[in-house]
Amino acid sequence: MDSTNHAFFAPCPRGLEAVLAEELTDLGAADVKATAGGVAFRGTLAFGYRVNLQSRIASRILLRIADGSYRDEHDVYDAANAIRWQDWFTPQQRIKVKVSAHHCPLKSLDFVTLRVKDAVCDRFQFARGKRPTVDTHAPDILIAVYLDASTCTFYLDTSGEPLFKRGWRKSAGEAPIRENLAAGILRLSKWTADTVLYDPMCGSGTFVIEAALMASRVAPGIGRHFAFEKLLSFDTRRLNELRTELKAMEIPIKPGLIHAADDNAHAITSIKANLTIAGSGDAVTLQQGDVLQLPAPAESGLLVTNPPYGHRMGEAESLRTFYPQFGDHLKKHFCGWTVQIFTADLKLPGQLRLAPSRRVPLFNGAIECRLFEFRMVAGSLRKTRAGGV
Ligand SMILES: C[S@@+](CC[C@H](N)C(=O)[O-])C[C@H]1O[C@@H](n2cnc3c(N)ncnc32)[C@H](O)[C@@H]1O
Repeated sequence: MDSTNHAFFAPCPRGLEAVLAEELTDLGAADVKATAGGVAFRGTLAFGYRVNLQSRIASRILLRIADGSYRDEHDVYDAANAIRWQDWFTPQQRIKVKVSAHHCPLKSLDFVTLRVKDAVCDRFQFARGKRPTVDTHAPDILIAVYLDASTCTFYLDTSGEPLFKRGWRKSAGEAPIRENLAAGILRLSKWTADTVLYDPMCGSGTFVIEAALMASRVAPGIGRHFAFEKLLSFDTRRLNELRTELKAMEIPIKPGLIHAADDNAHAITSIKANLTIAGSGDAVTLQQGDVLQLPAPAESGLLVTNPPYGHRMGEAESLRTFYPQFGDHLKKHFCGWTVQIFTADLKLPGQLRLAPSRRVPLFNGAIECRLFEFRMVAGSLRKTRAGGV
């Protein structure tokens, strides 16, 4: 198989770049460099397979094909037309071009998209006497183009469906967070499988299922397909070897390690269904109940949760009474625990009347959020005045 050292870019939820860079380094990536919105790295094409199968935090893996400087749409066309696309895929495959930009001086990204599509098709017409067709819904090949102020960079997507689609989520529940965001939060929390983990408002179970997959060393992409399987360079044998290697690394989870609860019966049904599909049916101890009534499942551990965030009038009212009670409950029953709360409510610590030991800005899509960490040590947490954080 091709042993060239290729350049890749892995986009991720904003705020997780540093932990994604750590994860990629652990996997063996070279020249790892975190930038806003993702991480650049180098490796062979086979390493690209590995990252697709094993990264818990990347949203997708893009293979950099070429770049060039530009001043106008003609320059972008010329740069795209100079690429030997026929080395990567065939004109029988359906393509989609997706352009994104930052500080780009050009007026219309739609027009740039059209010119790149023309350049690719013209190149195939010249090289093979046939043009690929465009399919914006279910393309075989996604060509991603990124424009900054003066450089256009061309990528081939190697993932296909975003990597947070692990395949275990059949039942969504209320406002689930994305799997790679949950995995990134677990990594930011420095959780390892020797610490008890508890999500008392688990919804569809994203945190605990990601934790179960981490603890049992299951590669998150082990059961799915990837866009790299449609590239001419695809090596089936290498992918099969990798799958076999990763399967052999799986281990059973210690009983009593991961706990989840929710007061909503639908959430419990939904997490049960998701756990079964994830193959982690017995790994999580589940309870239906109100978080304020449930005791801590162990003397110490990591509580990680994404509590309800009320947009509607009535909800916001009831949460105003819920949060101080939740804060008191943590103080009374969770001494010795570290608590990580992921929320879009930037004033949450004030409502809990707890002082965070760390606050990490993170984005859930376009929504600015925080991961607040509270170290529950007896007597030291009560805030002197409510509201101030
Ligand atoms: C934002 S959702 C959590 C979503 C979850 N992180 C996921 O990815 O699916 C909040 C959850 O808190 C639960 N919840 C709200 N109030 C609760 C309470 N007092 N006790 C237990 N669970 C509660 C809701 O039923 C809902 O499932």
